Amino acid sequence: MTEAFDSKEFRSVLGNLPTGVVIVSGVDVSGEPQGVTIGSFVSISLDPPLVGFFQGLNSKTWPAIAVSGSFCANILAQDQSELCWRFAKEAEGRFDGVQWTPAASGAPKIAGSLAHIDCTIESSSQVGDHLFIVGRVQNLEAIAGSKSAMIFFKGAVTGTPQSL
Ligand SMILES: Cc1cc2nc3c(=O)[nH]c(=O)nc-3n(C[C@H](O)[C@H](O)[C@H](O)COP(=O)(O)O)c2cc1C
Repeated sequence: MTEAFDSKEFRSVLGNLPTGVVIVSGVDVSGEPQGVTIGSFVSISLDPPLVGFFQGLNSKTWPAIAVSGSFCANILAQDQSELCWRFAKEAEGRFDGVQWTPAASGAPKIAGSLAHIDCTIESSSQVGDHLFIVGRVQNLEAIAGSKSAMIFFKGAVTGTPQSL
């Protein structure tokens, strides 16, 4: 069936829904840190503790993380817009100059984030042109402080109007 809208309108209308922003991080087979900016991260279940997100099928980074069987979701603070755009654009050198420590899984916990949620990959299933990835939470921590969360709304993040 042909829809009465195009992909530009789809993106534009759905852009009215504000989301938080995370960097999903992990390590590849060489032990190198990898990460990608994700706005579709969500809490799913308390018992068992499950979270999830939708990752585009053409992602270059996710397959490298997935082989490790784990990922860490880093919830971005409002002042981390440079990282938000960097991890959504050029794939080379995304971790250059980024301070991080390994979570129990080995996945990077990015300094300055509001919280880190360390997961094993529970399932991965295709939905349209995305993978729905479910993670089982193994460890999690919120960093004490008064920083505000980053919000993505109408193609821009709070405080810094910039688009892809
Ligand atoms: C705020 C924001 C939220 C995003 N959310 C998602 C998302 O939920 N799923 C997704 O597949 N891509 C999302 N992206 C786009 C990816 O970050 C972008 O396509 C990235 O280049 C993919 O890199 P990769 O090919 O290394 O995986 C988002 C980008 C931004 C700026």
